[in-house]
Amino acid sequence: MVDLRSDTLTMPNYPMLETILTARLGDDGRTDAKGRGEDPTINRLEDMAAALVGKEAAILMPTGTFGNTIAVMTHCHAGQTVLVDEEQHMLLTEKFAFEQDLGRLTPVCYHQDSRHMPDPDELDKLCLLYTSDAADEEDSVDLGGRRIN
Ligand SMILES: Cc1ncc(COP(=O)(O)O)c(C=O)c1O
Repeated sequence: MVDLRSDTLTMPNYPMLETILTARLGDDGRTDAKGRGEDPTINRLEDMAAALVGKEAAILMPTGTFGNTIAVMTHCHAGQTVLVDEEQHMLLTEKFAFEQDLGRLTPVCYHQDSRHMPDPDELDKLCLLYTSDAADEEDSVDLGGRRIN
């Protein structure tokens, strides 16, 4: 497993810092007709990430909060409901998607058992009532974050 929570779990070592200091930089994004978007390091990182997971393309999300918020806002519109577990990072810590002056989504919480797994029957019921989206961040957060199959 690749744990990408480096901001809180690890600090960059010297070779990593040296790589950061000497990386070729440019404007983020892909090159357009005006020649902007030429950051070769970001382009390479995105290409590597896409190849790693077998996707056509990838986009760098500078933070986990950024990625989670964009993921859920891509699927939902303001005013819709999102199923989240009651201890989920987006709900307890990030909040942007659920703030009334920002994402304006409404969280609907499902419960977890002692292994941090949801009850499929409860999910079925909640999905029938609220059909907008379900946010499940698959990660190794202290509380669980295992994939729901
Ligand atoms: C489970 C989980 N999700 C999301 C985040 C947010 O990541 P970031 O601090 O990069 O916004 C964290 C941060 O520690 C996290 O532990």
